[in-house]
Amino acid sequence: GAPVKVDVGKLEAGQQLTVEWRGRPVWVLHRTPAILERLATLTDSDRLRDPLAEVASQQPSYISGPLRSLREEFLVVIAICTHLGCVPLFRPEPGSVGDDWPGGYFCPCHGSRFDFAGRVFKAVPAPINLEVPPYRFLSDRQIEIG
Ligand code: FES
Repeated sequence: GAPVKVDVGKLEAGQQLTVEWRGRPVWVLHRTPAILERLATLTDSDRLRDPLAEVASQQPSYISGPLRSLREEFLVVIAICTHLGCVPLFRPEPGSVGDDWPGGYFCPCHGSRFDFAGRVFKAVPAPINLEVPPYRFLSDRQIEIG
């Protein structure tokens, strides 16, 4: 499949868009400062299976660290639950999926939960973080996926 160019210059903080790459949906989320603050508190291996994103299969080698991105304000992640392949729902409101919900993605099929770094919470069926596809910034306003 060909690489896909995504314009992010007009993507406001808190918004995300979905593009298709190799037949799969990919989300590009513009993370707000509040989202980044909440992610900074989610360092805990009591809550997350792979908080430091150490499972190498789930992101390119040039992407490291808990935010799982090239630039902290943008998350790029394949929108397919790592359990059985449903498309999770965007649930940004804190508390909307349980009292301690920090905002993230909720899979309606069997209840898996992921934060806004695509990291899977514990005690859900999904075994592993959402996959980050290969991508790069062509400019401040444009990302190329693939
Ligand atoms: Fe997402 Fe099962 S497919 S929880």
